[in-house]
Amino acid sequence: MLFKIIPSWTTGGIVKAADRTESVTYAIGDVVVPARELQRKGADIMWLNLGDPDKFDFDTPLHIKEAAVKAMSTYNGYADSEGLPALREAVASREKRKNGISVSKEDVFITNGTSEAIQMIYGALLNPGDEILVPGPTYPPYTSLARFFDAVPVPYVTVEKENWSPDIDDIRKRLSDKTRAILLINPNNPTGALYSRKCVEAIAGLAAEHGAVVISDEIYDTMTFEEQHYSPSRVEDVPVIVIDGMSKAYLSTGWRVGWTVFNDHNGILAEIKDACVKQLRLRISANSVMQEAAVAALNGSQDHIKNVAEKLKERRDFMYKRLNEIEGITTQKPMGAFYIFPKVDCEDDKRFVLDILENTHVLFVHGSGFGPYGKGHFRSIFLPPIETLEKAMNAVETFMTR
Ligand SMILES: Cc1ncc(COP(=O)(O)O)c(C=O)c1O
Repeated sequence: MLFKIIPSWTTGGIVKAADRTESVTYAIGDVVVPARELQRKGADIMWLNLGDPDKFDFDTPLHIKEAAVKAMSTYNGYADSEGLPALREAVASREKRKNGISVSKEDVFITNGTSEAIQMIYGALLNPGDEILVPGPTYPPYTSLARFFDAVPVPYVTVEKENWSPDIDDIRKRLSDKTRAILLINPNNPTGALYSRKCVEAIAGLAAEHGAVVISDEIYDTMTFEEQHYSPSRVEDVPVIVIDGMSKAYLSTGWRVGWTVFNDHNGILAEIKDACVKQLRLRISANSVMQEAAVAALNGSQDHIKNVAEKLKERRDFMYKRLNEIEGITTQKPMGAFYIFPKVDCEDDKRFVLDILENTHVLFVHGSGFGPYGKGHFRSIFLPPIETLEKAMNAVETFMTR
């Protein structure tokens, strides 16, 4: 025994983790454990679980990689806590190009990936007991982190047969005097939904009526197939905090560069911005070398974006057709991002995903890992080349027929 006395913060001498960590779940990572175990025994796993384009044939554009090398040979110190001024300017210019909105570099903060931005915004906005409306199903950190801050994530319905579009009446019903924010993830993870302009405007209108902030996760904004992404930032007089980053649009998930843009022309988010700056100073700076490279990415050629969307569309078409051919599986057509979220006839979707893994060596993520509205579904990526997807779908079909 290490301790001479057994303190109350131990269980039989083992130091207990803080209660808040109990709320932290990440289904996308959880299913990796049994897959690694199978791999260790020699299985060739088809990894359709993780949204990382860099693991497949989507390479970071060369001019951005070169900018990273150059940055590293020039300066390797900290950057300003709020972010490199040149990158904050570049993000503001991108906002003008993309959405026609004028913001200044003071409205932009640079974070270590979008993931840190989520934590920072929640840390600045949510008191214990405050509510945030999140899409159901949702990307798990948005619910886990809300609970981490003792706030309450309240899922709103997205309607599967309407291509997972948010149910505006349901959002209206769930607004309460504790609602601080409405979250949009558009294009959506895990459903691949792309919200129409009408839908985005309706949600922004509800938020404005109710005094809630819109948090808009736009990390997949360049990955759309038929229609273009429409940002709530375009809706006048609605305070919007955009969360975005390098990971997906610039095929550089490992660089960990993200940002937030405050579209707040009436200045009502001034205190929230100050609270963000305090947190940014606490962690000193985001990765300075990669911020230099991000300047080159945002200000340089955007040619890869069209090619990526075309390649993804072809793979989306394949998966949409093939999954709907398999007995017991039906799916909506994703209009953005690189996820598809099929429905499956089963009692327990996690058991289903684990059975598929054991029998076919194809790894998906169970739908209930994205919250209660994901139950009875699974999420697949369509990033790999068609030959890999075809092999995986043939194996799944054989399993389902059995
Ligand atoms: C909707 C959504 N937001 C944020 C992230 C995190 O991105 P980052 O790599 O910038 O931390 C992801 C990653 O998959 C995501 O799907």
